[in-house]
Amino acid sequence: MDGITDASFRKLIATIHPASVTFTEFVNVEGLARGAVSMLRAFQFSEKERPIVAQIYGTEEDSFYKSALMVCALGFDGIDINMGCPAKKVERRGAGAGLIETPGKAQAIIRSVQKARDDWANGITLSEAGIRPKLITAIQEMEKEKKVFPKKNRDLLPVSVKTRIGTCETCIESWIPTLLEMNIDVLSVHGRTLKQMYTGSANWKILARIAEIVKNSGKNTLFLGNGDIENLEDGEKKCREAKTNGALIGRALFGNPWFFSGKIPSPIERLHIALLHAQIYEECFPSAPFFPMRKHLGWYAKGFNGAREMRNECMHSNSAEEVFKIINTYEQHQE
Ligand SMILES: Cc1cc2nc3c(=O)[nH]c(=O)nc-3n(C[C@H](O)[C@H](O)[C@H](O)COP(=O)(O)O)c2cc1C
Repeated sequence: MDGITDASFRKLIATIHPASVTFTEFVNVEGLARGAVSMLRAFQFSEKERPIVAQIYGTEEDSFYKSALMVCALGFDGIDINMGCPAKKVERRGAGAGLIETPGKAQAIIRSVQKARDDWANGITLSEAGIRPKLITAIQEMEKEKKVFPKKNRDLLPVSVKTRIGTCETCIESWIPTLLEMNIDVLSVHGRTLKQMYTGSANWKILARIAEIVKNSGKNTLFLGNGDIENLEDGEKKCREAKTNGALIGRALFGNPWFFSGKIPSPIERLHIALLHAQIYEECFPSAPFFPMRKHLGWYAKGFNGAREMRNECMHSNSAEEVFKIINTYEQHQE
């Protein structure tokens, strides 16, 4: 999730309880392929997060090809194409959920990514593929700094698509077969239309119908449902009823890296994890500004007396050291 599932958050989750599979934030292929080295930051990861999938989005097939090759070179376990983002700046350019309106283009993009994955397995190098030298140098530096972990072997990576049930109206009867025709390895669908953005509820009845379409297609594609899962029990029930192969969890993780362990933490445990998260953030991104951490701190500081005051203080914090002081003061008042 953009702005949320950076390397620090994923590492925290993997530290508490290894999640099944983690996804990076989405990365724009056009920017990356043209040499925006800073975009590689979203691809930083640690070994304990495996299996880890890199998510990419955009519209240009050649940029998808180049970005998918870089994903292979960085050592990811899978490549996911975003065809579900409803943000205006993405969808208006025909990317993200905008691709639901252009099925031919969507198929061409999948083909490009699959070709990159195949070419990588067959031994192509980044320079042979026309990747800009500054990107190749940056990737080598990330490897040296142990920010990525290229694989020794060149096994074929799974290529997957994450999408929605339609744009204005549901269009799964045509859209889902369009995707399945491309023999993608995994299909994840958020049970809302583009127009709905995040309003209303995710429609798990439609996700159940998609599970049928996938099954009847006879393809080997795994199908993951997505939308509004609140906890493990709820997720298991939704998957069982809709007959999906699994689910993706999004917002239920905000301030709740315990999700996969099923644990309900005490307020003190929440605060200690808030601090650990802030420390991991500084370790992962030593020269980045601290403010992207603040929203997470706000999500942790909930459900106890004094939480509102603490949230306010955290919203002005600028380092893990300051977070430590805020939490320490709170703990002293509790004693
Ligand atoms: C802040 C935010 C950022 C998101 N960024 C991405 C993204 O980069 N890629 C993606 O596939 N979905 C993204 N999503 C959508 C979620 O992955 C998920 O499909 C959606 O929130 C519904 O699932 P949930 O109810 O479990 O949150 C984002 C959602 C939010 C709220």
